[in-house]
Amino acid sequence: MKKINSGLPAIEGGKPVRKKVFPNVGISQGRSLGKEEMILASHVIESGNLFRLGGLRMVEQFEKDYAKLYRVPFAHAVTSGTASLHTAVAALDLEPGDEIITSPITDMGTAIAILTQQCIPVFADVDPKTCNITAKNIEKQITKKTRAIIVVHLFGSPADMDPILKLARRHNLRVIEDAAQAHLAKYKGRLVGTMGDIGCFSLQQSKQITTGDGGILITSNKDLYARAVLFSDKAWPRTQMGQTRGHLFLGVNYRMNEITGAVALAQARKLKGIVRKRRKVAHFLSRKLQNVDGIILTKILPDCRSSWWMFSFYPDKKKIRISPAEFAKALAAEGIPAGCGYIPMPLFEYPVIRDRKTFGSSHLPWSLPAARKNIVYDRNHYPGTMKALTELIVFSWCEGVSEKDALDVYNAIKKLVQYYSR
Ligand SMILES: Cc1ncc(COP(=O)(O)O)c(C=O)c1O
Repeated sequence: MKKINSGLPAIEGGKPVRKKVFPNVGISQGRSLGKEEMILASHVIESGNLFRLGGLRMVEQFEKDYAKLYRVPFAHAVTSGTASLHTAVAALDLEPGDEIITSPITDMGTAIAILTQQCIPVFADVDPKTCNITAKNIEKQITKKTRAIIVVHLFGSPADMDPILKLARRHNLRVIEDAAQAHLAKYKGRLVGTMGDIGCFSLQQSKQITTGDGGILITSNKDLYARAVLFSDKAWPRTQMGQTRGHLFLGVNYRMNEITGAVALAQARKLKGIVRKRRKVAHFLSRKLQNVDGIILTKILPDCRSSWWMFSFYPDKKKIRISPAEFAKALAAEGIPAGCGYIPMPLFEYPVIRDRKTFGSSHLPWSLPAARKNIVYDRNHYPGTMKALTELIVFSWCEGVSEKDALDVYNAIKKLVQYYSR
C-alpha cells in the first residue's frame, strides 16, 4: 500500500491534519444554545402570546438586560442586524440624496440600510492591517452632502474610533457603529457600539449570540431612541396617543417577537462567557502564530479587545510561494474551513450599487435631483480594500473552538508554511 507522507499538504495527496469537523457556528457543538433558551421559549409558547406587547415581555427584558450590559439608557430589539442599521439610519431623519460614508468590506445589510432611506453610500478605504476604515480615509470622502458615517468593526475588531469621532464632530456628522460582528468588543476601555450616536448588532446565526435572525440597537440619545422605536413599529405612537393608530411618518414593522426575545434573553445572559471563551482560544492561537515566519496576523489596535467573530491573517507574499487563494484551499484541505477575502468583491461592485438595481428602473437614490452626480465607485481607488479582499485568509471562529482545535489550526498553517516557503 502507498504510504501517505504526512508532511505533504493534503491538497497534494498528503494526510490532512484534521479529519473531524471543525467546530462552527452552524452546529450545536460550536454554540452555546441549550436548556436556558428552551425553557424561556417554552414559557412564551405556554403563555399563548407571541407578540412583544403583552405576554411575558421577553423582548422588553432582553432590551433591559442588553442596555444594562452596555451601561446605556436605551436598547431596542428588531428583526435583524440589517433592520437595526436601517432603523438607525431612519432615526437620523436624513434627506434623500444625503451621503453616508462606510466601509466597502461589510455585509450588504450596511448598504441596504443606507439605500432604503434613499441615501447614498460612499466608501472609505480600509487599512489592510486592521481591515477597518480610518479617519484619514473617511476625510477624503467627505463632501457637502455627507451627513453620517457608519463605522464597521470588522470581524469583531474595533476600528480606531477616537480620530473618527473627532472628525465627525468637526464636520457635524452623525456616527452609527455597525457592531453586527462585534458584541462586547472593547476600544480603549469603551464598549464598541457605545461611542457613536447609535450602535447596531446582529443576532444572525453566525454572530456571538444568536436567535437565527434578529438585531438590537443601543443609544444614549433619547430622541434617536424614540424615533427608532416609532420607525420600527410603523411609526405607531402607542405611548403618546394610547392605542390610536395615528401613524406619524413612513415606518416599517421590524418588531421582534416573543419567541425570538426569549432566546435572545437567554443568549444575552451568556454573552460575557461566550466572548471570554472566544478570546481565550483566539489569544492562544495568535500567540502561537506570532512566531511563524510567513504569517502576518490581522492587527488588533493597542488597548483594544476583539470579540473574535472571525480569525484572519495574511500569508506573507515574500515568504510563501503560492497565492493566498491557493493557501486558503490548502488549509481547507487540511480540515480547517478557510476562505480567501471574506466577501468576493468590494460592496460597490455588487449589482445593487454597480448597476443601481434599486427601485424599478429608477436608479434611485443616485438619480435624485438632490444627489451628487460625480460619485465614482472604482476598485483602483481602494488599495487597502483590494489587498484585504484578495490576500486575507479568513475562517469562522466560535466559542466551541478549544485550545486543542486551535492547535490543529496552528499545525496545519505551520505545515503549509514549511512546505510552501520560497
Ligand atoms: C458587518 C455587518 N453588518 C450588517 C450585517 C447584517 O446583519 P443581518 O444579517 O442580521 O441582517 C451583518 C451580518 O452579517 C454584518 O456582518
